[in-house]
Amino acid sequence: MNYKALAKRAASARKHSHSPYSRFKVGAALLAANGQVYTGCNIEISTFALTVCGERTALFKAFSEGERKFTAIAVATDEPDFTPPCGACRQVIMDLAGDIDFVMSRKNGDIKVLKMSQLFPYPFGAQSFTKGKKKTS
Ligand code: THU
Repeated sequence: MNYKALAKRAASARKHSHSPYSRFKVGAALLAANGQVYTGCNIEISTFALTVCGERTALFKAFSEGERKFTAIAVATDEPDFTPPCGACRQVIMDLAGDIDFVMSRKNGDIKVLKMSQLFPYPFGAQSFTKGKKKTS
């Protein structure tokens, strides 16, 4: 699937956003290596810190269904400029999906693609602690 089409999937996932506090709707679409797409949206909680971003919703959905290999994640908002991912999502995406493409899209349909390693260089990860090197699942 090309990245413009993936961004469109993210834009349609925005419809499900639960964002009564910020009113900032975010949609995400995660592309697995096998071509499967997992969508997500931001889900806000009244104690704000428990809010989950669209990117993490999509990743957790995919992971919980057994998916482990990914190639890209697209995010859509309704802003005139590109929306980069928050710091928490950068850590989670790097941890669970690795150095995939991050596809930002803006209201007029333009896309901008950056590697996760550009957005999040020198990450903490399993390689950062000796006991974490062994894969358990
Ligand atoms: N948000 C996302 O879903 N993804 C991002 O990359 C940035 C921020 C959400 C979290 C919150 O619901 C709202 O946008 C405002 O921060």
